[in-house]
Amino acid sequence: MWDSLWINCNLCTMQGTGLGTITNGAIAIEFDKIVWIGEFNDLPDTPDKLAREINDLNGSWVTPGLIDCHTHIVHGGERVNEFNMRLEGASYEEIARAGGGIRSTVKATRAASEKELLEAALKRASALQSEGVTVIEVKSGYGLDWENETKQLRVARQITDHLPLKIMTTYLAAHTVPEEYQDNGDAYIDSIIEKLPELKKSELADAVDGFCEGIAFSPDQIEKLFKAASELGFDLKLHAEQLSDLSGAALAAKYGANSADHLEYVSDSSADAMAEAGSVAVILPCAFYFLNETKKPPIQLFRDKNVPMAVATDMNPGSSPCCSILLAMNMACTFFKMTPTETMRGVTINAAQALGIEASYGSLEIGKTADLAIWDINNPAELSYHMGFNPLQELIKSGKQIIQK
Ligand code: NIG
Ligand code: FE
Repeated sequence: MWDSLWINCNLCTMQGTGLGTITNGAIAIEFDKIVWIGEFNDLPDTPDKLAREINDLNGSWVTPGLIDCHTHIVHGGERVNEFNMRLEGASYEEIARAGGGIRSTVKATRAASEKELLEAALKRASALQSEGVTVIEVKSGYGLDWENETKQLRVARQITDHLPLKIMTTYLAAHTVPEEYQDNGDAYIDSIIEKLPELKKSELADAVDGFCEGIAFSPDQIEKLFKAASELGFDLKLHAEQLSDLSGAALAAKYGANSADHLEYVSDSSADAMAEAGSVAVILPCAFYFLNETKKPPIQLFRDKNVPMAVATDMNPGSSPCCSILLAMNMACTFFKMTPTETMRGVTINAAQALGIEASYGSLEIGKTADLAIWDINNPAELSYHMGFNPLQELIKSGKQIIQK
C-alpha cells in the first residue's frame, strides 16, 4: 500500500520539453518519494486498494515544489539608504565604488550574530516557502573572510532545523574585494583558494561562485579560483555579464559550471560555450527591475542555442530585495518575454539542473523526492500571470504536508 494517493488533479510533471501536462491525473507517494504518476484511469486498482490516505484535489493543479536557485537570503541589514541614493540619481556601480554596495552589507553581516542572521534568513525563507518553494540555494559572500563566510554558510545549513526545505549552499567569498585587501584582488583570491581544502572538508558548501565584473573580479582571477575549486570537486556557478561583457559565462562553461547567472550582456560566443557545456542560464529579472537596468538578457539567443533557462529571485539587500518567486516569474515574462512555460521550467527542472540536483528534484517522476506544490488555478500560466496574489493551496515537502490553506 502507498502512503498517500492524490487524485482528481491536473499535473505539470515537467517531463519532456514543456510542462508535461497530465489532466485528470493521479500521483502516489511512499515515505518521501513519488512512487506512481499518471492518468487516473491508468491506476492499477481502485484508490482505496492502493493507498492508506486518499486526497481528492477537486481539479487543482500540482507542480513540483518550486526551486529558487539563486539567493543571498543570509545577510545582515538592509540597504534602504542606497535605494534612496539611487532614486536621487546615483548608480549601483557608483555606490559600490564609493565603498557602499556589497561592502556595506559585509559590515552588517560581520556585526551580526549567527542567531540574528538566522532569524532574518528564516523570515525570507518562509516567505519563499509560502509561494510553493521547497528548495533554496543560499550564497555566502557578505563575510569576505573565513570566519564570516563560514558563519553565513553555517546559518544557511541551520535553516533546515527550523523549516522543512532543502538548502543548497554556495561559497561566494569572491563576491567583492574586502576593505582589508584594498585594491589587491589577487592576494584576496589567493587567500580564498588557500582555504578551499578546509571548506571542502567542512562540507559547508555545495558549490563555489564568484562575481566576474569590473567592480568585483577579473576573468583571470575567477579562472584561478575555478581551477582550484574544480580540482577539489566543487560545483561551480558564476555571476557573469550583469553590467558588462567580460566573457565570464564562457569561462564558467569552460570549467563545466552548472550555471552562469544574470547574463544581460552575454555574447553569442559565450552562449555557444554554455550550450556546449550544458550550463544553465539563470535569469534574474528582479535585479534587472530593481536596478532599473535597460539591457535585457538575450532570451531568444538562449532558445536558439538550446541553453536551458532558469529563473530565480536573486534575493539580496542591494540589487533584489525580493522574496517572491512568483513575482520573478511574472517579471521574466513581462520584461524578457519568456513564456509562462519557460518560467515554469525555470523554477523547476532547469533550476534543479542549475544546482546539479535534477536527478532527484525539479519534476514529478517516479523515484524523485515528493515535493509537490498544489495550486488553486485553472491554468498553469496563472503562476506567471498574477502579481501580488498567491494561489498556493497546499505544499508537500519530502512527502509531508507542510502548508494547507
Ligand atoms: O546577484 N551581482 C552581484 N551580487 C548580487 C548583488 C549584491 C549586492 O548588491 O549586495 C547580485 O545581484
Ligand atoms: Fe546574486
